[in-house]
Amino acid sequence: MTDSTTAHGNDVLSVRDLRVWYGTERGAVRAVDGVDFDLRPGETLGLVGESGCGKSTLGRGVLGLLPASATAAGEVRFRGENLVALSEKELQGRRGPEIGLIFQEPMTRLNPLMRISQHFEETLRVHEPGIDKQEVRLRSLEVLRRMGIPPTRYRNYPHEFSGGMRQRLMIALTLVLRPAFIVADEPTTALDVLVEAQIIRILHDLRHNFGTAMLLITHNLGIVAEACDRVAVMYAGHIVEEGDAKQVFSEPAHPYTRELLRSTISLRTTGLHYIPGAPPDLVEPPTGCTFHPRCPDAMKVCADLDPVETRPSSQQRVACWLHGPEDRIPDGGREPLARQEISVADEA
Ligand SMILES: Nc1ncnc2c1ncn2[C@@H]1O[C@H](COP(=O)(O)OP(=O)(O)O)[C@@H](O)[C@H]1O
Ligand code: SF4
Ligand SMILES: [Mg+2]
Repeated sequence: MTDSTTAHGNDVLSVRDLRVWYGTERGAVRAVDGVDFDLRPGETLGLVGESGCGKSTLGRGVLGLLPASATAAGEVRFRGENLVALSEKELQGRRGPEIGLIFQEPMTRLNPLMRISQHFEETLRVHEPGIDKQEVRLRSLEVLRRMGIPPTRYRNYPHEFSGGMRQRLMIALTLVLRPAFIVADEPTTALDVLVEAQIIRILHDLRHNFGTAMLLITHNLGIVAEACDRVAVMYAGHIVEEGDAKQVFSEPAHPYTRELLRSTISLRTTGLHYIPGAPPDLVEPPTGCTFHPRCPDAMKVCADLDPVETRPSSQQRVACWLHGPEDRIPDGGREPLARQEISVADEA
């Protein structure tokens, strides 16, 4: 989705036409296929979508943390530099002190033989070699306090903490470096609901306490409603809708967003609503709108032409033919897509 959006002067991060593909025997998996978004200081952007839509690839692509089989192109502007164009060595220097990543499984990142204090010491020393012990202690205890971990636990080992506490430790270890921007990829998926709520509250407070901007990847729309300023909905490597979280949730403009919301809400109420079918194979995605084989509103134009991004309101953008632009829709293009065509595409 490219349009004439220009970077705001005060953005922390400006992503333009980012593309990431994985080389495989079957061909290129186009996991991120032309993504644009901006992040302002202290802002939290939720990234949602079904599994396999490219959310983790986008988060890692932004940080330059992709496996060797992946190729990235486009722009990730951070403080005037295009991160996509930097070498691995240059990127390493930016990670930690400026940009950080919070993973899903904290135990894999904590060394069971090292005390928490030693984790902080090591993390800080790597990026701020001259730092003294007193400063390490002050900075670490401050960030632990913000995470609701008492100073008495400073010298404990990782196994002495519960899963939720360990995740908070990981967040603390990321934040102690005071990054301007972090990516949190499903940070609470492995946790129970109560602990999850606690961590979401902490993440929600982050922007006030640290001014850290965050890309929060989750499949849980409740978390987005609670902790995010804006939300971006991802489908088949594209951002199909983006806007103010409250507005998008109350007036979803894209049929995929609407279906995603329905499937969440009905989990809490009566019957279970599934979006029929599954996200497409990203080696050979459907033509036109990639959602057309599953879309209840699909029209003739949807199967042929890529949707053009439009703005239903100043804070919202959407890529769906239902919203025009009218002058780009061919004659008869608004007629419903025949059911038969839908099921054929479904099986393909
Ligand atoms: N290392 C990889 N090699 C090949 N394909 C990959 C690799 N990692 C992810 N993919 C594919 O890229 C697509 C997007 O995956 P991912 O970014 O993990 O999505 P999400 O986080 O939304 O579940 C999927 O089709 C997935 O199978
Ligand atoms: S472009 Fe067409 S198929 Fe795609 S979401 Fe909109 S109505 Fe549905
Ligand atoms: Mg993922």
